[in-house]
Amino acid sequence: MTHDDSLTRLMEDFHASIEIDRRLYKADIRGSIVYARGLERIGVLTAEECQAIVTGLTEIEGEIERGEYALTRDLEDIHTAVEKRLIEKIGPAGGKLHTGRSRNDQIALDERLYLRETIDGVIGQSTQCQSTLLHLAEQTMDIIFPGYTHLQQAQPIRFAHYALALLFALERDKGRLRDCRTRVDVMPLGSGALAGSAFPIDRAFLARELGFADVSPNSLDAVSDRDFIAEFLSACAILMVHLSRACEDVVIWSSAEFGYVRLHPRLVTGSSIMPQKKNPDAAELLRGKSGRVIGDLVALLTVLKGLPHAYNKDMQEDKEPLFDAIDTVTICLQVFTTIWETIEVRTERVASSMDDAMLATDLADALTKQRIPFREGHGIVAALVNEAARRGCSLRDLSPADYRRVSDRLDESVIARLTFAESTDKRDLPGGTSRRAVVEQIEQARRLII
Ligand code: ARG
Repeated sequence: MTHDDSLTRLMEDFHASIEIDRRLYKADIRGSIVYARGLERIGVLTAEECQAIVTGLTEIEGEIERGEYALTRDLEDIHTAVEKRLIEKIGPAGGKLHTGRSRNDQIALDERLYLRETIDGVIGQSTQCQSTLLHLAEQTMDIIFPGYTHLQQAQPIRFAHYALALLFALERDKGRLRDCRTRVDVMPLGSGALAGSAFPIDRAFLARELGFADVSPNSLDAVSDRDFIAEFLSACAILMVHLSRACEDVVIWSSAEFGYVRLHPRLVTGSSIMPQKKNPDAAELLRGKSGRVIGDLVALLTVLKGLPHAYNKDMQEDKEPLFDAIDTVTICLQVFTTIWETIEVRTERVASSMDDAMLATDLADALTKQRIPFREGHGIVAALVNEAARRGCSLRDLSPADYRRVSDRLDESVIARLTFAESTDKRDLPGGTSRRAVVEQIEQARRLII
């Protein structure tokens, strides 16, 4: 091999993106078929040429699908690969397809077509996950569960209230994806390399045929813009952070120390050395995967931040983070949904772990009924809680004398009458954890996801 040959090979290897962007072949061919029709309408292609191109492209799609057309590195990228094969198949007419088009507007189109469909898929998966959470909420309405702040028992909640919290977070994720979709749904073809096309192609026709809501308003912007990918990645990163936080709850609750939930045996794994272990690996890995998707977003923004207008080869690096995020979010949503489909809440264990101190707020609330300012009541109850902690007993175990020592306004009968379920039912404003408020949220959720 001459030095020149080896340089050619090195550059081929370096520039090739075909192993990555082969995923875009359907979008690429779909875009090209419509573009050929656009060229025919302005007389650049005859009807026969257009037909030959459309037939050729359709066949190439089949060839790629069946693995008959080997997409090798020397073909550089998917656009070059398809065009080369087209010319091989139908002759010089195939070489007319790229008239007035550049790979710069072509790749922007392909990515938009691909992403539009992907977003619909991720939204659909999120909705499925919400259905699972809704079902879980319906089943766990009457499970009173410790609500935590600072990882310390704070106030009792209904488990359903927790399941709905996850559901509503996912609803915002879907909102971000839908919002991003409106900006993906813009047709860039006709922008050429950067300055627009010198051929009077009907861009509205192209948009209509490809189902786009809009046509990009500025060719320079159209080939420079990867915001739509950054937006998608950012929506995915936030979604993954939601999944990750919920997984953290699961990891904590499934530990021996908490023991509030039991995960499906398929979702936990043993240790290679410690026979007793049942590690919540699925939830942990999911938590870890959020780091990947955050990384994908950061990778793309970093690639973009210093680029001059318009297309620069750096932009080829947008695909790996995009596809990585899509694959990661897709499998993570499946696993996440499975976690909630199969989780078992160990109600007895939960009930026995509930600390009466979680009724402290209710005690202080009760004092306000005697016109004691809440801040003062807070101090009285804090003194009682401290006393109970000092003796290692519960609030209920303190004697009438203990109560009297702290305040003459509060007696032990108040705590005797308080239950965790009642405590939740007092939080009856919209959004609260009372049975009624939770039923209301379930209805609201149901309306959202059907
Ligand atoms: N493979 C390229 C990419 O993904 C397609 C656009 C190439 N354009 C160019 N002028 N080299 O970014």
